[in-house]
Amino acid sequence: MKNLKENQPSVNFDIEKIREDFPILKKSVNGRQLVYFDNAATSQNPVQVTDRISRYYNEENSNIHRGVHTLSNIATGEYEKARNRIRRYINAADSREIIFTRGTTEGINLVAHSYLSDKLEENDEIIITAMEHHSNIVPWQILCERKKAVLRILPMNEKGELLSDELEGMINERTKFISITHMSNALGTINPVKDLVKTAHKYGIKVLVDGAQSIPHKKIDVRDIDCDFFAFSGHKVYGPTGIGVLYGKEEVLEEMVPYQSGGDMIKTVTFEKTLYNDLPYKFEAGTPNISGVIGLGEAIRYIDSLGILNIEKYETELYSYAVSEMKKFSEIKFIGEAEVRSGVISFEIDGIHPHDIGTILDQEGVAIRTGHHCAQPVMEFFNVPATARASFACYNTKEEVDIFTNAIKKLYEVFK
Ligand code: ALA
Repeated sequence: MKNLKENQPSVNFDIEKIREDFPILKKSVNGRQLVYFDNAATSQNPVQVTDRISRYYNEENSNIHRGVHTLSNIATGEYEKARNRIRRYINAADSREIIFTRGTTEGINLVAHSYLSDKLEENDEIIITAMEHHSNIVPWQILCERKKAVLRILPMNEKGELLSDELEGMINERTKFISITHMSNALGTINPVKDLVKTAHKYGIKVLVDGAQSIPHKKIDVRDIDCDFFAFSGHKVYGPTGIGVLYGKEEVLEEMVPYQSGGDMIKTVTFEKTLYNDLPYKFEAGTPNISGVIGLGEAIRYIDSLGILNIEKYETELYSYAVSEMKKFSEIKFIGEAEVRSGVISFEIDGIHPHDIGTILDQEGVAIRTGHHCAQPVMEFFNVPATARASFACYNTKEEVDIFTNAIKKLYEVFK
């Protein structure tokens, strides 16, 4: 790709250098230069992350919190350094509030089990929203079934915006918990989570924010949002798969029972009684994903080196460019046109099934996701079986958007 800097959004961002950090972007797919627009499913890892993981295995691999030997101390130190870096990144007050999980899904399940399960009684209510990913629906649904409680849904409008003002009217003395996505993976909508949390807290209700999609695109400040829990996954934020974070306020985590039990989450064990470990270890049973944590710490360091506010600005311009180029096609219908959105463009093309769109774009080297995006209720709301979805990261360019829109033109030729 030539002259990338000339055509790119006007942020102080060395896009050529950034792209060099992601070797996979040089790959050819079906004889074409890869254009990777499936970042909402998983983002790519920079060499800084993959090198760090390989250095861990080549030079530091050992179990943590267990040994007195040098390697174990090094691995423990690196693992805890990553926790502290993540704490700083999301502005949590204390690293005891950072629990490592397998990903967003496990974080939500942990809260459903360890925070809510014992509190929820028959006819109690949990509120989620109409635009949730299955991972922020099914854990609550299962809990409601077990406890004969009720799952209530904060609705959205035709643009894919939450009817936030309705939240207060839905809250009553039976409301026990609220869980909302920060950014919809199917629509790109960014929700006003700070306001929603404020409303919930007026009534003493705790709130979980699903940050799986917002974490790579926006500055996250959990103390500013004031949420009680914030869950995200490493692989959406330039880190490895199989690692994620659950942030929880210390006083809330303190009152919770462990999610899983076994090694490392204990202080003492006798056959009569077990004393649980302190935070955050109480929630990290078993040997954790040490290389994943260290890799995620490196991914956060990488973002810090670019500056999340620079990323946000760069991606906002790129997103607007993609939307305006796509608007030139009268046959494209956008699914989700919220005023405040980012990162994700879901669309349909008149007369062409989304799977055909995905398959033909793949022939042109363009990777997008097609399907229901693990958000079947959103598809039902918009009365579509599936959508095509392009989603962006800090390494994407306007030139790639042009390749994508040219591939859409070719699609018309095939289906004419
Ligand atoms: N939640 C991921 C997506 O939206 C997998 O594609």
